[in-house]
Amino acid sequence: MNALLRNVHENSEPLPAALPEATIELFREHAALPPWFDEVRVRRAGAWAQAHLPQITLALFCASLPSSYAAARGARVLAATGRMQGNDLDRRVNETAQFVLDVVTENAFGATGCALLSIRKVRLIHAAVRASLRAHSDEVPINQEDLLGTLFAFSVVVVHSLRRLGCAVSAEQAEDFYQLWRTAGMMLGIQEPLLPATFPEASELAIRIAQRQMGPSEHGRALFAALLARMRAHVPFAHAAPGHLVRYLVGDEVAAILGLACPSSFRDALSVMGLLPGLPRALRGAPPPWLIASLSRPLLEAIIATKLDGAAVNFAMPG
Ligand code: HEM
Repeated sequence: MNALLRNVHENSEPLPAALPEATIELFREHAALPPWFDEVRVRRAGAWAQAHLPQITLALFCASLPSSYAAARGARVLAATGRMQGNDLDRRVNETAQFVLDVVTENAFGATGCALLSIRKVRLIHAAVRASLRAHSDEVPINQEDLLGTLFAFSVVVVHSLRRLGCAVSAEQAEDFYQLWRTAGMMLGIQEPLLPATFPEASELAIRIAQRQMGPSEHGRALFAALLARMRAHVPFAHAAPGHLVRYLVGDEVAAILGLACPSSFRDALSVMGLLPGLPRALRGAPPPWLIASLSRPLLEAIIATKLDGAAVNFAMPG
Protein backbone atom coordinates (compact mmCIF):
# COMPACT_ATOMS: atom_id res chain seq x y z
CA MET A 1 0.00 0.00 0.00
CA ASN A 2 2.91 2.36 0.84
CA ALA A 3 4.43 1.73 -2.58
CA LEU A 4 1.12 2.34 -4.33
CA LEU A 5 0.48 5.59 -2.51
CA ARG A 6 4.05 6.90 -2.83
CA ASN A 7 3.49 8.89 -6.00
CA VAL A 8 0.08 10.38 -5.32
CA HIS A 9 0.30 13.84 -3.75
CA GLU A 10 -2.35 16.26 -5.00
CA ASN A 11 -5.94 16.18 -3.79
CA SER A 12 -7.36 15.79 -7.28
CA GLU A 13 -5.00 13.01 -8.44
CA PRO A 14 -6.74 9.69 -9.06
CA LEU A 15 -5.89 6.89 -6.66
CA PRO A 16 -3.95 3.95 -8.09
CA ALA A 17 -6.43 1.37 -9.31
CA ALA A 18 -4.36 -1.41 -7.76
CA LEU A 19 -5.21 -0.22 -4.23
CA PRO A 20 -7.47 -2.60 -2.34
CA GLU A 21 -11.15 -1.73 -2.84
CA ALA A 22 -11.57 -1.20 0.93
CA THR A 23 -8.81 1.44 0.96
CA ILE A 24 -10.28 3.25 -2.04
CA GLU A 25 -13.65 3.22 -0.29
CA LEU A 26 -12.11 4.53 2.93
CA PHE A 27 -10.27 7.30 1.07
CA ARG A 28 -13.50 8.31 -0.65
CA GLU A 29 -15.40 8.34 2.62
CA HIS A 30 -12.71 10.39 4.38
CA ALA A 31 -12.51 12.99 1.61
CA ALA A 32 -15.73 14.75 2.58
CA LEU A 33 -15.19 18.22 3.96
CA PRO A 34 -17.24 19.03 7.08
CA PRO A 35 -20.49 20.96 6.52
CA TRP A 36 -19.12 23.96 8.46
CA PHE A 37 -15.99 24.18 6.26
CA ASP A 38 -15.54 27.88 5.48
CA GLU A 39 -13.41 28.24 2.39
CA VAL A 40 -12.91 32.00 2.71
CA ARG A 41 -11.77 31.68 6.30
CA VAL A 42 -9.49 28.75 5.60
CA ARG A 43 -7.90 30.50 2.59
CA ARG A 44 -7.33 33.58 4.74
CA ALA A 45 -5.69 31.38 7.40
CA GLY A 46 -3.46 29.83 4.74
CA ALA A 47 -2.34 33.24 3.51
CA TRP A 48 -1.67 34.42 7.07
CA ALA A 49 0.30 31.26 7.85
CA GLN A 50 2.32 31.63 4.66
CA ALA A 51 3.43 35.09 5.81
CA HIS A 52 4.39 33.76 9.25
CA LEU A 53 6.08 30.48 8.30
CA PRO A 54 9.40 31.24 10.04
CA GLN A 55 7.66 31.91 13.35
CA ILE A 56 5.28 28.95 12.89
CA THR A 57 8.23 26.64 12.25
CA LEU A 58 9.94 27.90 15.37
CA ALA A 59 6.76 27.36 17.38
CA LEU A 60 6.38 23.88 15.95
CA PHE A 61 9.90 22.76 16.86
CA CYS A 62 10.27 24.60 20.17
CA ALA A 63 6.71 24.38 21.56
CA SER A 64 4.33 22.03 19.70
CA LEU A 65 6.56 18.95 19.49
CA PRO A 66 7.99 19.38 23.03
CA SER A 67 4.52 19.78 24.55
CA SER A 68 3.32 16.65 22.72
CA TYR A 69 6.26 14.75 24.24
CA ALA A 70 5.23 15.98 27.70
CA ALA A 71 2.04 13.89 27.48
CA ALA A 72 3.27 10.73 29.19
CA ARG A 73 0.87 8.15 27.70
CA GLY A 74 1.07 9.62 24.20
CA ALA A 75 4.87 9.68 24.36
CA ARG A 76 4.88 5.92 24.92
CA VAL A 77 2.85 5.48 21.72
CA LEU A 78 5.05 7.91 19.77
CA ALA A 79 8.11 5.93 20.81
CA ALA A 80 6.47 2.58 20.13
CA THR A 81 7.40 2.34 16.45
CA GLY A 82 11.01 2.75 17.53
CA ARG A 83 11.68 5.35 14.85
CA MET A 84 12.68 8.19 17.13
CA GLN A 85 16.47 8.11 16.97
CA GLY A 86 19.05 9.73 14.70
CA ASN A 87 18.06 9.82 11.03
CA ASP A 88 14.69 8.24 11.72
CA LEU A 89 13.82 11.10 14.06
CA ASP A 90 15.02 13.59 11.46
CA ARG A 91 12.81 11.96 8.84
CA ARG A 92 9.76 11.97 11.09
CA VAL A 93 10.21 15.55 12.19
CA ASN A 94 10.72 16.64 8.58
CA GLU A 95 7.67 14.67 7.48
CA THR A 96 5.68 16.39 10.19
CA ALA A 97 6.98 19.76 8.94
CA GLN A 98 5.91 18.79 5.40
CA PHE A 99 2.50 17.80 6.73
CA VAL A 100 2.14 21.20 8.37
CA LEU A 101 3.16 22.87 5.10
CA ASP A 102 0.53 20.81 3.27
CA VAL A 103 -2.17 21.96 5.71
CA VAL A 104 -1.28 25.60 6.30
CA THR A 105 -1.41 26.80 2.74
CA GLU A 106 -4.06 28.83 0.95
CA ASN A 107 -5.18 26.07 -1.36
CA ALA A 108 -4.71 23.19 1.08
CA PHE A 109 -8.13 21.66 0.48
CA GLY A 110 -8.50 22.68 -3.17
CA ALA A 111 -7.82 20.56 -6.26
CA THR A 112 -4.11 21.43 -6.51
CA GLY A 113 -3.49 21.34 -2.75
CA CYS A 114 -2.15 18.30 -0.89
CA ALA A 115 -3.84 18.41 2.51
CA LEU A 116 -6.69 16.01 1.72
CA LEU A 117 -4.33 13.34 0.54
CA SER A 118 -1.70 13.82 3.25
CA ILE A 119 -4.37 13.73 5.95
CA ARG A 120 -5.75 10.45 4.65
CA LYS A 121 -2.27 8.93 4.44
CA VAL A 122 -1.58 9.96 8.04
CA ARG A 123 -4.94 8.51 9.02
CA LEU A 124 -3.78 5.20 7.55
CA ILE A 125 -0.48 5.43 9.48
CA HIS A 126 -2.41 6.00 12.70
CA ALA A 127 -4.74 3.09 11.95
CA ALA A 128 -1.75 0.80 11.32
CA VAL A 129 -0.04 1.90 14.56
CA ARG A 130 -3.30 1.48 16.48
CA ALA A 131 -3.86 -2.01 15.10
CA SER A 132 -0.34 -3.17 15.87
CA LEU A 133 -0.32 -1.74 19.41
CA ARG A 134 -3.79 -2.95 20.30
CA ALA A 135 -2.63 -6.50 19.77
CA HIS A 136 -0.42 -6.07 22.87
CA SER A 137 -2.53 -3.88 25.15
CA ASP A 138 -6.08 -3.04 26.20
CA GLU A 139 -5.48 0.70 25.90
CA VAL A 140 -6.72 2.50 22.79
CA PRO A 141 -3.67 4.23 21.36
CA ILE A 142 -4.06 7.49 19.40
CA ASN A 143 -7.54 7.82 20.87
CA GLN A 144 -9.83 10.84 20.57
CA GLU A 145 -8.31 12.71 23.53
CA ASP A 146 -4.78 12.09 22.22
CA LEU A 147 -5.76 13.34 18.77
CA LEU A 148 -7.36 16.47 20.24
CA GLY A 149 -4.30 17.16 22.40
CA THR A 150 -2.02 16.92 19.36
CA LEU A 151 -4.37 18.99 17.23
CA PHE A 152 -4.17 21.75 19.85
CA ALA A 153 -0.36 21.48 19.81
CA PHE A 154 -0.46 22.33 16.09
CA SER A 155 -3.06 25.10 16.43
CA VAL A 156 -3.63 26.63 19.87
CA VAL A 157 -0.01 26.20 21.04
CA VAL A 158 1.27 27.73 17.78
CA VAL A 159 -0.92 30.83 18.18
CA HIS A 160 0.04 31.28 21.85
CA SER A 161 3.73 30.80 20.97
CA LEU A 162 3.61 33.37 18.17
CA ARG A 163 2.13 35.87 20.58
CA ARG A 164 4.87 35.03 23.09
CA LEU A 165 7.43 35.62 20.35
CA GLY A 166 6.08 39.11 19.93
CA CYS A 167 3.82 38.62 16.88
CA ALA A 168 0.50 40.41 17.04
CA VAL A 169 -2.09 37.71 16.25
CA SER A 170 -5.60 39.16 16.24
CA ALA A 171 -8.58 37.22 17.59
CA GLU A 172 -9.82 36.78 14.04
CA GLN A 173 -6.48 35.47 12.77
CA ALA A 174 -6.34 33.01 15.67
CA GLU A 175 -9.89 31.89 14.88
CA ASP A 176 -9.09 31.47 11.17
CA PHE A 177 -6.00 29.42 11.96
CA TYR A 178 -7.94 27.22 14.35
CA GLN A 179 -10.71 26.65 11.79
CA LEU A 180 -8.08 25.46 9.31
CA TRP A 181 -6.80 22.92 11.83
CA ARG A 182 -10.30 22.07 13.01
CA THR A 183 -11.02 20.92 9.45
CA ALA A 184 -7.83 18.84 9.41
CA GLY A 185 -8.73 17.42 12.85
CA MET A 186 -12.14 16.27 11.74
CA MET A 187 -10.70 14.70 8.63
CA LEU A 188 -8.08 12.92 10.76
CA GLY A 189 -10.91 11.18 12.55
CA ILE A 190 -11.79 13.41 15.52
CA GLN A 191 -15.51 13.08 16.15
CA GLU A 192 -17.54 16.20 15.54
CA PRO A 193 -19.13 16.53 19.03
CA LEU A 194 -15.70 16.41 20.67
CA LEU A 195 -14.14 19.05 18.45
CA PRO A 196 -14.44 22.57 19.94
CA ALA A 197 -16.20 24.95 17.57
CA THR A 198 -14.12 28.04 18.34
CA PHE A 199 -10.56 29.03 19.23
CA PRO A 200 -11.42 30.18 22.80
CA GLU A 201 -13.18 26.85 23.48
CA ALA A 202 -10.21 24.97 22.01
CA SER A 203 -7.81 26.95 24.22
CA GLU A 204 -9.83 25.96 27.29
CA LEU A 205 -9.99 22.28 26.38
CA ALA A 206 -6.25 22.32 25.57
CA ILE A 207 -5.55 23.32 29.19
CA ARG A 208 -7.83 20.59 30.57
CA ILE A 209 -6.24 17.89 28.40
CA ALA A 210 -2.75 19.11 29.33
CA GLN A 211 -3.66 18.89 33.03
CA ARG A 212 -4.85 15.31 32.57
CA GLN A 213 -2.08 14.07 30.30
CA MET A 214 1.12 15.90 31.12
CA GLY A 215 3.64 14.24 33.36
CA PRO A 216 7.24 13.06 33.32
CA SER A 217 7.94 9.85 31.42
CA GLU A 218 11.01 8.01 30.29
CA HIS A 219 9.81 8.02 26.67
CA GLY A 220 8.82 11.68 26.67
CA ARG A 221 12.20 12.71 28.02
CA ALA A 222 14.05 10.52 25.54
CA LEU A 223 12.03 11.94 22.64
CA PHE A 224 12.67 15.48 23.81
CA ALA A 225 16.39 14.84 24.39
CA ALA A 226 16.68 13.49 20.83
CA LEU A 227 14.79 16.49 19.39
CA LEU A 228 16.88 18.97 21.38
CA ALA A 229 20.11 17.30 20.29
CA ARG A 230 19.07 17.52 16.63
CA MET A 231 18.02 21.17 16.99
CA ARG A 232 21.33 22.00 18.68
CA ALA A 233 23.24 20.25 15.93
CA HIS A 234 21.54 22.55 13.42
CA VAL A 235 22.56 25.75 15.21
CA PRO A 236 26.12 25.08 16.41
CA PHE A 237 26.70 28.85 16.58
CA ALA A 238 23.93 29.24 19.16
CA HIS A 239 24.02 25.87 20.88
CA ALA A 240 22.11 27.02 23.97
CA ALA A 241 19.35 28.81 22.06
CA PRO A 242 16.95 25.89 21.37
CA GLY A 243 16.76 24.90 25.05
CA HIS A 244 16.19 28.48 26.15
CA LEU A 245 13.52 29.00 23.52
CA VAL A 246 11.72 25.80 24.48
CA ARG A 247 11.66 26.88 28.11
CA TYR A 248 10.47 30.35 27.16
CA LEU A 249 7.64 28.98 25.03
CA VAL A 250 6.41 25.99 27.05
CA GLY A 251 7.09 27.41 30.53
CA ASP A 252 9.06 26.09 33.51
CA GLU A 253 6.56 23.38 34.46
CA VAL A 254 6.54 21.63 31.08
CA ALA A 255 10.31 22.17 30.77
CA ALA A 256 10.72 20.31 34.08
CA ILE A 257 8.46 17.48 32.83
CA LEU A 258 10.70 17.17 29.78
CA GLY A 259 13.83 17.08 31.96
CA LEU A 260 15.19 20.29 30.44
CA ALA A 261 18.01 21.34 32.74
CA CYS A 262 17.30 24.68 34.36
CA PRO A 263 20.24 27.05 34.06
CA SER A 264 20.65 28.98 37.30
CA SER A 265 20.52 32.31 35.52
CA PHE A 266 18.12 31.46 32.71
CA ARG A 267 16.73 34.94 32.29
CA ASP A 268 20.24 36.40 32.47
CA ALA A 269 21.30 33.98 29.75
CA LEU A 270 18.48 35.22 27.54
CA SER A 271 19.27 38.85 28.07
CA VAL A 272 22.99 38.21 27.50
CA MET A 273 22.18 36.47 24.24
CA GLY A 274 19.81 39.30 23.41
CA LEU A 275 17.68 36.53 22.01
CA LEU A 276 14.18 37.36 23.08
CA PRO A 277 14.08 41.06 22.36
CA GLY A 278 15.96 40.50 19.10
CA LEU A 279 14.30 37.43 17.74
CA PRO A 280 10.79 38.60 17.00
CA ARG A 281 12.08 41.80 15.48
CA ALA A 282 14.57 39.88 13.40
CA LEU A 283 11.85 37.54 12.22
CA ARG A 284 9.09 39.98 11.45
CA GLY A 285 10.81 43.34 11.29
CA ALA A 286 13.14 44.22 8.47
CA PRO A 287 12.05 42.09 5.49
CA PRO A 288 8.68 43.10 4.06
CA PRO A 289 5.87 40.53 4.47
CA TRP A 290 5.73 39.67 0.76
CA LEU A 291 9.41 38.70 0.88
CA ILE A 292 8.91 36.46 3.91
CA ALA A 293 5.88 34.87 2.25
CA SER A 294 7.67 34.18 -0.99
CA LEU A 295 10.90 32.93 0.60
CA SER A 296 9.77 30.91 3.60
CA ARG A 297 7.97 28.10 1.86
CA PRO A 298 10.58 27.37 -0.84
CA LEU A 299 13.32 27.60 1.79
CA LEU A 300 11.57 25.27 4.17
CA GLU A 301 10.75 22.85 1.38
CA ALA A 302 14.40 22.92 0.30
CA ILE A 303 15.53 22.19 3.86
CA ILE A 304 13.04 19.33 4.18
CA ALA A 305 14.04 17.88 0.80
CA THR A 306 17.76 18.12 1.60
CA LYS A 307 17.27 16.51 4.95
CA LEU A 308 15.20 13.72 3.47
CA ASP A 309 18.02 13.16 0.96
CA GLY A 310 15.84 14.27 -1.92
CA ALA A 311 13.33 11.52 -1.22
CA ALA A 312 9.68 12.57 -1.57
CA VAL A 313 7.64 12.72 1.61
CA ASN A 314 5.51 9.61 1.52
CA PHE A 315 3.79 9.35 4.88
CA ALA A 316 4.40 5.62 4.73
CA MET A 317 2.92 3.28 7.30
CA PRO A 318 5.54 1.78 9.64
CA GLY A 319 6.24 -1.83 8.70
C1 HEM B 1 -3.97 16.02 15.05
C2 HEM B 1 -3.22 15.08 15.48
C3 HEM B 1 -2.07 14.45 14.76
C4 HEM B 1 -1.43 14.81 13.60
C5 HEM B 1 -1.70 16.03 12.73
C6 HEM B 1 -0.41 13.82 13.34
C7 HEM B 1 0.46 13.83 12.27
C8 HEM B 1 1.31 12.78 11.95
C9 HEM B 1 2.20 12.78 10.81
C10 HEM B 1 2.39 13.94 9.84
C11 HEM B 1 2.84 11.59 10.79
C12 HEM B 1 3.88 11.13 9.74
C13 HEM B 1 5.26 11.56 10.20
C14 HEM B 1 5.82 10.62 11.21
O1 HEM B 1 6.08 9.47 10.88
O2 HEM B 1 6.01 11.05 12.36
C15 HEM B 1 2.37 10.82 11.92
C16 HEM B 1 2.79 9.55 12.26
C17 HEM B 1 2.58 8.98 13.49
N1 HEM B 1 1.80 9.49 14.50
FE1 HEM B 1 0.62 11.14 14.38
N2 HEM B 1 -0.43 12.88 14.34
C18 HEM B 1 -1.42 13.24 15.23
C19 HEM B 1 -1.73 12.59 16.40
C20 HEM B 1 -1.01 11.53 16.91
C21 HEM B 1 -1.14 11.01 18.24
C22 HEM B 1 -2.08 11.56 19.30
C23 HEM B 1 -0.26 9.98 18.36
C24 HEM B 1 0.04 9.10 19.54
C25 HEM B 1 -0.13 9.41 20.77
C26 HEM B 1 0.41 9.83 17.09
C27 HEM B 1 1.32 8.84 16.82
C28 HEM B 1 1.91 8.67 15.59
C29 HEM B 1 2.79 7.54 15.27
C30 HEM B 1 3.18 6.41 16.20
C31 HEM B 1 3.19 7.73 13.93
C32 HEM B 1 4.07 6.78 13.07
C33 HEM B 1 5.48 6.98 13.36
C34 HEM B 1 6.47 6.27 12.46
O3 HEM B 1 6.64 6.69 11.31
O4 HEM B 1 7.10 5.37 12.96
N3 HEM B 1 -0.07 10.79 16.24
N4 HEM B 1 1.43 11.57 12.60
